[in-house]
Amino acid sequence: MLKPRELIAGLNPYHSPITSRAGLSLDLNESMAGCSPRVLARLRSLSAAELSMYPQREVGERRIANFLNIGPEQVLLTNGIDEALSLLFTSYLAAGDELLFADPTFVMYPMLGKALGAQVVRLQSGEDLALPVADLLARVSPRTRVIAIANPNNPTGLAASRSDLLRIAEAAPDAAVLIDEAYFEFCGETLIPDLALHPNLFVARTFSKAYGLAGLRLGVLTGAAEQIGYLRRFGLPFNVNAAALACVEEALADQAFVRDHVAQVKEGRKRLAQLFNELGLHFWPSQTNFVLVRIRASARAFEESMQRRGVLVRDCSASPGCEGCVRITVGTPRQMDGVLQAIREVIAEARR
Ligand SMILES: Cc1ncc(COP(=O)(O)O)c(C=O)c1O
Repeated sequence: MLKPRELIAGLNPYHSPITSRAGLSLDLNESMAGCSPRVLARLRSLSAAELSMYPQREVGERRIANFLNIGPEQVLLTNGIDEALSLLFTSYLAAGDELLFADPTFVMYPMLGKALGAQVVRLQSGEDLALPVADLLARVSPRTRVIAIANPNNPTGLAASRSDLLRIAEAAPDAAVLIDEAYFEFCGETLIPDLALHPNLFVARTFSKAYGLAGLRLGVLTGAAEQIGYLRRFGLPFNVNAAALACVEEALADQAFVRDHVAQVKEGRKRLAQLFNELGLHFWPSQTNFVLVRIRASARAFEESMQRRGVLVRDCSASPGCEGCVRITVGTPRQMDGVLQAIREVIAEARR
């Protein structure tokens, strides 16, 4: 009988976090502002010839390299950061090698590490859910081959300092240190300028969040030219589709769209923070497009009550250290009026 590799058969089935899209979807950290009209116009202008030919990733890589002020040989375009993670982990983690990260963080890290048969070393953040820098430094071993850090982090929204992240990269010269900057635009601090002096450092970016293009699947992995060259050897040549590549130029050109969206999100974050303060709910100050809040009553009940009011939020209780916590993506100002009202009602109901 046909059997997959033991490692694959032993994995838990993947459950998409998408259970229903009926309602205002504030559960997946997508953009509620859509995307730039310039990107939409470019998509609508796609010709049959553009679609019938294999895509040319290199053109997009040159544009992005220019935008990021690094060399094109330092940029690999991927099918979202998810694919970048898969390429990076597969390239550096052999069975038994250590993948190091701190919980709570992005769920793909342990999933991919386990699928590769890596030794998954999970540290736990303290009450404040901040990156446990000293613990990470102490746990680096000669077997550590990948260290994955989302900065700012999902689901906490917290960012670590550039100097702490560089200390980690310097403490593990034989490990690939990935700084996953999926939410960079909402925070503004990046390690891309540090790639030049840190040959083991990788920085990932995405068009899924601030650019509002999660459906196009466009991610960017940057690193030292030599290391990106290795990943290129192994990656598939046509991993990013022609429609996504065609949009790169307009997406980058419309920085006004990104700036406006980020400003809106920051305002929405503030409104959520004010409400949580008023309601006496503990939350973590966010540098992303979502806020993590501890609901003292059951987070699951909160999620369900919000869903009944047409708002989807994410119960994060299963993430280590996030028991009783819910993650809420920031919507447009108009949407936030209704969301804040719904939160008030649900909390009042639970306290009655
Ligand atoms: C920290 C982090 N990295 C990566 C991703 C996935 O990004 P992409 O859509 O580019 O695959 C997410 C999505 O939520 C995320 O939170």
